[in-house]
Amino acid sequence: MLPTESKKALSFKRCIEDGDLVIVYERHDVMKPVKVSKDGVLQNRFGFYKHSDWIGKPLGTKVFSNKGKFVYLLAPTPELWTLVLSHRTQILYIADISFVVMYLEVVPGCVVLESGTGSGSLSTSLARAVAPTGHVYSFDFHEQRAVSAREDFEKTGISSLVTVEVRDIQGEGFPEKLSGLADAVFLDLPQPWLAVPSAAKMLKQDGVLCSFSPCIEQVQRTCEVLRSDFIEIRTFEVLLRTYEVKEVKEVKMDTSSMVDESHEDDNGGMRPCKRKHRSNEDDTVSRDNSSSNATSVVMARPCSEARGHTGYLTFARLQCLA
Ligand SMILES: C[S@@+](CC[C@H](N)C(=O)[O-])C[C@H]1O[C@@H](n2cnc3c(N)ncnc32)[C@H](O)[C@@H]1O
Repeated sequence: MLPTESKKALSFKRCIEDGDLVIVYERHDVMKPVKVSKDGVLQNRFGFYKHSDWIGKPLGTKVFSNKGKFVYLLAPTPELWTLVLSHRTQILYIADISFVVMYLEVVPGCVVLESGTGSGSLSTSLARAVAPTGHVYSFDFHEQRAVSAREDFEKTGISSLVTVEVRDIQGEGFPEKLSGLADAVFLDLPQPWLAVPSAAKMLKQDGVLCSFSPCIEQVQRTCEVLRSDFIEIRTFEVLLRTYEVKEVKEVKMDTSSMVDESHEDDNGGMRPCKRKHRSNEDDTVSRDNSSSNATSVVMARPCSEARGHTGYLTFARLQCLA
């Protein structure tokens, strides 16, 4: 594969072609991947959409159904792919993924080793981070999961950047051929401590390891083993609080409590930021509370379905033996 070809795969073509995978976006919580085919038709609660109308349009385009309703056609970026991929296992989500990519210091050209592959959620972001010249070697002992991951990487255009192999990493360790070549190693395994000695052999001097575990007991056992070859051992729990921003109309104004800033309420949620509506005549706040004086209020409140604990991320740097 020429470097220019892999570059093209990750830059996501700007115009939609027959055979492309696009994300059909209705709302942030309603989207799905669709393979474009010139004779294809998408049907949803808003009507029919002919794929032939999509071909040649730029990604990001708003397309209309036969009933005049619309969806957006977006590129299958790692961020969106993580939200629509088929869950064959538990997966890593954006908050943990961002933290992993940053703290593993993954940049273009890096070689990254990962196990298990699972549903390929993290692998997709790692692939983009190492592109165009780096590579991700991903290992899973479950044959069918490896096959499905390869198929997904083919669909999303990153197969030239990720190699998936079937291997029991806890039992056999990483393959000798990768010894000393990895800039970073990521473990998402039930007993990661069994894979730590092999991970140490794979890393370049100064390379970084990360292990994701849902339970603190797994973290403790991993840290005990890490202490023999690694330094800078740190564990993080990434908790993300998502806010929903909505404009609410027809709220009566109470001028006595009018504020420009939002205030935290008793529940830790946000009260609305009320906009002062001034009359054109006297430039004072209107005291008319009738319905004709309806205001629009922007509300930001924590999403009810916000994710809590996912797991612990333990990072460690290979000790440099000068
Ligand atoms: C939770 S999933 C990984 C999810 C992945 N990080 C993602 O974001 O999609 C854990 C994976 O580890 C694999 N696994 C478990 N034990 C393994 C072992 N000894 N060697 C290799 N893979 C293993 C499982 O088959 C499973 O697919």
